[in-house]
Amino acid sequence: MKPAVDTLVFETVKAYSEWREKLRAEQPDAIVGFVPTMGALHQGHATLMRVARQECDYVVASIFVNPMQFAPHEDFDRYPRTFPADVEICKNVGVDAVFRPSVSEIYERPISDMTKVIPPKELIGHLCGFFRPGFFEGVATVVLKLFNIIQPTQAYFGEKDYQQLAVIKRMVKDLNLPLEIVGVPTVRERDGLAMSSRNVYLSSDERNVAPGIHAVISAVRDAVLSRTPVSTAISQAKVSLTAIEGLELQYLEVCDGDTLEPLEQARKPFVVLVAAKLGNVRLIDNVVEH
Ligand code: PAJ
Repeated sequence: MKPAVDTLVFETVKAYSEWREKLRAEQPDAIVGFVPTMGALHQGHATLMRVARQECDYVVASIFVNPMQFAPHEDFDRYPRTFPADVEICKNVGVDAVFRPSVSEIYERPISDMTKVIPPKELIGHLCGFFRPGFFEGVATVVLKLFNIIQPTQAYFGEKDYQQLAVIKRMVKDLNLPLEIVGVPTVRERDGLAMSSRNVYLSSDERNVAPGIHAVISAVRDAVLSRTPVSTAISQAKVSLTAIEGLELQYLEVCDGDTLEPLEQARKPFVVLVAAKLGNVRLIDNVVEH
């Protein structure tokens, strides 16, 4: 049993690495779990940390709003930043260390001059990758950098961002990264809305109708499970989605749960994925059938 510790906060790679090297020297076999985040933490993030806490000797979380994964017109500047509350959540869950670097600590040069990780087209050519060009390069690049800095034995990602999880698993496999990726099921509000740091942007009217998105993709899952053709289930769902006031659909697809290849006829594992804008807020959700 390791003694209870206060949550340590590291702001530089150097300070974190000194801690990590000491840990490696003293406990070479310690299992270190890592939860990368962009902060504005909610119960979804806390659940990843709790799962890591149960499975690992040490838990490290990072809080870094990564400019490389935001397009110029997106919400990098107004992304919610709530560091003091975030640290409280980390403490309550028993996170050992929080890595909270500045942008210049992670990007020593302009982002356009940085080496980047390019995930395969078959994974990022559709779904969010189509609507957010460059997004998964930004995610994969920062996650690889964070893995190299944090040196975890396992890292925890939410199924909420299903395509992101697939991209990271593929990067770990393709680049022989020496760690294990653990996927954690989506944590929802009581009415079904997937928890997201961006939910705070919803007006009260938008918040009231937002759970309809989960209801619709659950109906698609149920329909294809009872052998309705995928195209029929999707057409029906699109009718239901147009009934949601202010909703603008980006995509609704049924895909293979491992490769994300679009499916005509559902076979397990499959995943129903959706992205839609409610007013100015872009929401994504999915349901998986393993
Ligand atoms: P962020 O949106 O802060 O999410 C951090 C992690 O929390 C991701 O693995 C995400 O899937 C998970 N998560 C968010 N909401 C969740 C929910 N309702 N249920 C379960 N898990 C949930 O994803 C990112 O940050 C960034 O792209 C990052 C990986 C940190 C790279 O910058």
